[in-house]
Amino acid sequence: MYTPDAIGTPGAANATKVLLLGSGELGREVTVALQRLGVEVHAVDRYAGAPAQRVADFHYTVDMTDPQMIRGLVEEIRPDFVVPEIEALATGALQELEDEQLTTVIPTARATRLTMNREGIRTLADRELGLPNSRHVFASSFEEFRDGVRQIGIPCVVKPVMSSSGKGQSYIRSAEDIAPAWEYAMSGGRVHSERVIIEQFVPFDYEITLLTVRSVDPATGEDATWFCEPIGHRQEHGDYVESWQPAQMSTEALEAARSVAARITGALGGRGVFGVELFVKGNDVYFSEVSPRPHDTGMVTMGSQRFSEFDLHARAILGLPIDTTLISPGASAVIYGDVEGRAPSYAGLAQALAVPESDVRIFGKPESHVRRRMGVAFATAEDTDTARRNARQAADAVTLSVSGE
Ligand SMILES: Nc1ncnc2c1ncn2[C@@H]1O[C@H](COP(=O)(O)OP(=O)(O)OP(=O)(O)O)[C@@H](O)[C@H]1O
Ligand SMILES: [Mg+2]
Repeated sequence: MYTPDAIGTPGAANATKVLLLGSGELGREVTVALQRLGVEVHAVDRYAGAPAQRVADFHYTVDMTDPQMIRGLVEEIRPDFVVPEIEALATGALQELEDEQLTTVIPTARATRLTMNREGIRTLADRELGLPNSRHVFASSFEEFRDGVRQIGIPCVVKPVMSSSGKGQSYIRSAEDIAPAWEYAMSGGRVHSERVIIEQFVPFDYEITLLTVRSVDPATGEDATWFCEPIGHRQEHGDYVESWQPAQMSTEALEAARSVAARITGALGGRGVFGVELFVKGNDVYFSEVSPRPHDTGMVTMGSQRFSEFDLHARAILGLPIDTTLISPGASAVIYGDVEGRAPSYAGLAQALAVPESDVRIFGKPESHVRRRMGVAFATAEDTDTARRNARQAADAVTLSVSGE
């Protein structure tokens, strides 16, 4: 059993082991952060050659929605911690493994179950905690959907209850959009389910991610909560394209944001980094959703914070002290594939890294797609406007190509 003052040796019988479920670019950074603290990482994904698989101590390619597969891995590896990196998992199996005390799920099995389904997390936020959030209803058939749209009113936003990165999500701006929105949601869900959420459109001034960390306070030995500086971001097609830190907010809005974040993460419990997504209008803050893990918009922290959100996740998993110091204003910009095909080549790294205070991560994914996130650029600067320009310039300098096979 793991204790913070007894980290083992990777590869040896006493290794402290993490089973990472999902091996994307965020998982790759978590893997490296854990390894730096002496942890042995076992990375899983549904396809071979996923970013974290290429750096982990051990890797596996399995269907992570299959409860037997998850149980089999845990029984074989005996990890101290299971660290989910994605939402689409057999969360029932995680609950059983946690109940049997075979492993510790980060942050908790219940948090992974509630956040995988919009209905679970919105019901907790709205009904149980009374957090401010957009009015919403759920629908499981086209008839219910039409009634729901009438109830919420136009404009509204439609999303499959189980989806991420904007998949199946659309806006209803007029009555003509109703039928296509239903069709689109039905095609975009992650699992075969006909359930959607219809949300009132929030005409927010800006949106933020508030990275919130739960770990052990060394002064008291008790669980405590830390906040990073707020991260501003811009989304296109429901997917993040750029982020910056710190986002400028009024003191009232920041206090409201921290209060919402403390309440939702406190209700989910456990240890780790959470990405609390909030809409801000004036001094009012609306809860949108929460990731019980590092957040894509938080990649900016690789440049802007003393310890990135990935370092902080590793520390929190192990119950170690947390330091959320911002060292400089910063920004990140996504590098999209823009081409279709296997084994892309990347040009322009020299130009990208010639941008002042910039850095780049190339994820090394085996296949490129036009809207697939293939890398990220980030930059620090005296202010976030300059950092945003520079991060964008560095990202744009990197271009992918695929040779005709
Ligand atoms: N009710 C709403 N009113 C206004 N804008 C919204 C609303 N819901 C979502 N959006 C916009 O769409 C974006 C994506 O929505 P949401 O975070 O719910 O989807 P997602 O698919 O889970 O995205 P991701 O997994 O990338 O975070 C939000 O960041 C926001 O810009
Ligand atoms: Mg989101």
